[in-house]
Amino acid sequence: MKKQPSSLKHYSAVDRQKETYISGMSGHLPKIPFDLQKLEHKAKASMSKEAFAYIAGGAGTDGTIRENRSAFSKWKIVPRMLRDVSVRDTSIELFGDQLPFPLLLSPVGVLELAHKQADLAVAKAAAKTGIPMIFSNQASFPMEQTAAVMGNSPRWFQLYWSKSNDLVASLVKRAEAAGCSAITVTLDTTLLGWRVQDLDLAYLPFLRGKGIAQYTSDPVFNKLLDEPDNAEPIERKLTLDTIANAIELIRSYPGGFFNNLKTKRPLKAVRQFISIYSRPSLTWNDLAFLREQTSLPIILKGILHPEDAKLAIDYGVDGIIVSNHGGRQVDGSISSIEALPEIIKEVDGKIPVLLDSGIRSGADMFKAIALGAKAVCIGRPFCYGLAINGEEGVAEVIKNFYSDFELTMGLTGCKSIEEIQEAKLVRDRLPR
Ligand code: GLV
Repeated sequence: MKKQPSSLKHYSAVDRQKETYISGMSGHLPKIPFDLQKLEHKAKASMSKEAFAYIAGGAGTDGTIRENRSAFSKWKIVPRMLRDVSVRDTSIELFGDQLPFPLLLSPVGVLELAHKQADLAVAKAAAKTGIPMIFSNQASFPMEQTAAVMGNSPRWFQLYWSKSNDLVASLVKRAEAAGCSAITVTLDTTLLGWRVQDLDLAYLPFLRGKGIAQYTSDPVFNKLLDEPDNAEPIERKLTLDTIANAIELIRSYPGGFFNNLKTKRPLKAVRQFISIYSRPSLTWNDLAFLREQTSLPIILKGILHPEDAKLAIDYGVDGIIVSNHGGRQVDGSISSIEALPEIIKEVDGKIPVLLDSGIRSGADMFKAIALGAKAVCIGRPFCYGLAINGEEGVAEVIKNFYSDFELTMGLTGCKSIEEIQEAKLVRDRLPR
């Protein structure tokens, strides 16, 4: 298939500024706020309170979310002058894909909470800009459908290691067939974090059949549904809400309303999902199984301890993502940017290290790369763009990150990613 060019190819921060200010002359204000706090506020207004809580919420007191942000401001960029930055090259190569700039879209589940086009809208925006999308294991659309709207633009698959190795193998094979260029195993969510916002609203989307499309489209999962039902029953009081939720579940499940009503398959699928979805008993030794299933690069997401980075190399994985899951799993966790330098030291260039959690600007991207990350991932910001304006909203958010990054590069005297890697950062005024 022919590679489609990224719409960012001949684009620059100056173009972005120009088009915005010139539109302003005709009275048009940007639909997608540039200010990330305003972006979040606007998105909140266009989502249900349950949807916003699920996307925005963190674990416990949200301490890790705050730390992810404040840790970035401890690092300061020291710009250089008079270095001819008239031409700036933001591109990188990552696992064989050429990226217009070092950004990926993190896997985010249940995108239908933000917009009904969910993964499809994100995939189209990712493809248009050439940014890799990491398909969520908890997606709202099956990976094949999402891949089908992307041409041959890069995509990865996020794996949640289920209790069934057959299901793991099936998901990985499907990801390969859907053109994914890497498998990212999320390690930090073998149990769901203590999400007080969701708990207060007593709302978990999966119980309503949302975010389980990778399962309901999977042959191994469907075979399990054909077997006698030994998943744990869900005990509920019968109320009007129970009935309304059951109707919503039956209606949104593949296979037709009356058939679903007769077979009770949607409820069975939810129960099966709950009993199978993750495996807290997972250990490093299990990685050998995954290696046997695929020749794609295996990337571990959720590494924060340098010893785990060392183990990742010892166990032969191809890359790691330093991440605390956007502060959604462990309250009071180290921020990912704080964890990065020691991990970079431990990895010593043997495999690419990416950074996720807390990236909110081009300057954050710059800092992560100057500290040794190969690329960064964003999550909530693109969900907010999606909530406000679907595909277009996601594309705008990507363009804003691109422009901010590209401008930061120029203003700090860097023409290339290599020069960012050489850039000087100081931390609380101490040389690094
Ligand atoms: C799942 O990945 C979640 O963070 O809710």
